[in-house]
Amino acid sequence: MKEIEVWLQTFAPGSRTPIHRHSCEEVFIVMKGSGTLFLAPSSHGKIPGEPHEYPIFQNSTFHIPVNDCHQIWNTNEIEDLQVLVVISRPPVKVFLYQDWSMPHTAAKMKYPYYWDEECFHSPRLKDEL
Ligand SMILES: *[C@@H]1O[C@H](CO)[C@@H](O)[C@H](O)[C@H]1NC(C)=O
Repeated sequence: MKEIEVWLQTFAPGSRTPIHRHSCEEVFIVMKGSGTLFLAPSSHGKIPGEPHEYPIFQNSTFHIPVNDCHQIWNTNEIEDLQVLVVISRPPVKVFLYQDWSMPHTAAKMKYPYYWDEECFHSPRLKDEL
């Protein structure tokens, strides 16, 4: 699709996205489970800085401002966290951070970025492409 990209993503207990940012809008709807959103509000300094922690629950909807560094973490030890994700203007350039004090200039750019990279590179999927 040209204007938006939509996918369903499941995080096993304890799993998480990298700390990252992108210059697109992003909306999450929590379908199942719970977890924590780490968000460094307006990451305009040299580094993302200490993130705010927001608990997320089933049926919650939240929005990530453009270019704010964030991380979704399934902090629930038992249940999967399943989210429906919508982004604008795909494909996006994603900037990855090792930690919250990594300078923006050191963030690693990935483009194109596959949200399901591991599945995407499995031999079976490749055959179908
Ligand atoms: C989420 O919404 C569904 C459907 O309305 C409802 O059955 C469920 O109890 C809600 N869950 C929570 C945690 O509010």
